Amino acid sequence: MTPKKSEISVRPPAFLYSAGLLHCEGASLRKLAERFGTPLYVYSAGLIRERVRAFDKAFRGFPHTVCYSVKANSNLSLLRLLARMGCGFDVVSGGELARVQKAAPRAVRSVVFSGVGKTANELKAALKAGILLFNVESEAELHVLAECAAQLKKTASLAMRVNPDVSAETHPYISTGLHQHKFGVPIQQARALYALAAKQRYLRPAGVSVHIGSQITDVSPFGEAMERVAQLVRELHGDGHAIRYVDAGGGLGIAYQDFGNFDFVAAVTKYAGTLTKPLRGLGLHLLLEPGRSIVGPAGTLLTRVVYEKTNGGKKFVIVDAAMNDLIRPSLYSAYHEIIPVQAPPETAYEQVDVVGPICETGDFFARERKLPATQSGDLLAVLDAGAYGMSLASNYNTRPKAAEVLVDKKSAKIIRRRETIADLLRQEL
Ligand code: LLP
Repeated sequence: MTPKKSEISVRPPAFLYSAGLLHCEGASLRKLAERFGTPLYVYSAGLIRERVRAFDKAFRGFPHTVCYSVKANSNLSLLRLLARMGCGFDVVSGGELARVQKAAPRAVRSVVFSGVGKTANELKAALKAGILLFNVESEAELHVLAECAAQLKKTASLAMRVNPDVSAETHPYISTGLHQHKFGVPIQQARALYALAAKQRYLRPAGVSVHIGSQITDVSPFGEAMERVAQLVRELHGDGHAIRYVDAGGGLGIAYQDFGNFDFVAAVTKYAGTLTKPLRGLGLHLLLEPGRSIVGPAGTLLTRVVYEKTNGGKKFVIVDAAMNDLIRPSLYSAYHEIIPVQAPPETAYEQVDVVGPICETGDFFARERKLPATQSGDLLAVLDAGAYGMSLASNYNTRPKAAEVLVDKKSAKIIRRRETIADLLRQEL
């Protein structure tokens, strides 16, 4: 069946057709491709701001800080944009901390540091930087943090990341809150660890943190996790710990498909109600670590068709972007909407696989997808690629990483230069 033109989905407000050509805010994607080349990541500053404002509005009745999760997209210009809006940051490595220090030095005091394998050097760097909170994920890490803090004579405020044993309906690779996952400490063991921490001169138990997974679209598991966290906070208050923060992690999902019916403001409002209800009256400040829901829909991967071919009756559209640029379809069988930059005519649709040039069968963006007919040289936009796109990019097949452009109304600025092959060879001896 041939989809009607009206079924070609474009989501407001960041990526829209105007005069037959797809635009990001006021910038024509065709012009951006001509100016900066492809593959090219294009981000909308306006949509990122709108998403942060939606979070702040939804949580306005509860003291909170949005600590954007740097792993979703760690470009320095995006971090700067988010810091200007008052965001703190969630980092998971010394490298991500260094990014925040470089992009927004003053936001360092609103950094939370998560991760199961922080090294002593990373912990020391964060202690020296003066971050807000260490999310400690094991007893062993607690001991190393205590040693590092004592050596530097700096007090570390910490939260134990608890594993609430709550199942989140999402891809198994990005579900984190079940007892069989490597994350956090079993919630039943948390109290004993807080008691241990409180005995250390340079450790200050200050919060409880939790993160149950990513791309979660049903809010009830968040509620369940928060009920368990609230109960723990009451117990910890009873034990005499001054617990001030609850870090609720990230994980709010976005609509990669069926987004016509998706209302982000309604989703984040429901999420806010679910998270805050169990926490009211406990004198807490809520930390949020959204990544995908802030930057996902604000980014598109722009790519050009190189060749078309038919093998055994199956049609392949071969584009110049590949799994090294955006690995989500290959790794999680993730769906990303693909639309042509030039608005298509009503009729000509065909079923195709959209694939990259990499030597792996898993190098695809879409399989058996009905798309408007294309020819070599045409431009396609892979939507919702702002989160976990560039940040998971690699140099597989010795492919230089794509350039990144940030659009703000009519202005389009390059925020990461396209890598050159010389860049790739430089590190090797
Ligand atoms: N906080 C913690 C402790 C996390 O582990 C994560 C994501 C976040 C916050 C941000 O979650 P978000 O709001 O973005 O869902 N590469 C996968 C997603 C991996 C998520 C890892 N942790 C993907 O492309 O779907």
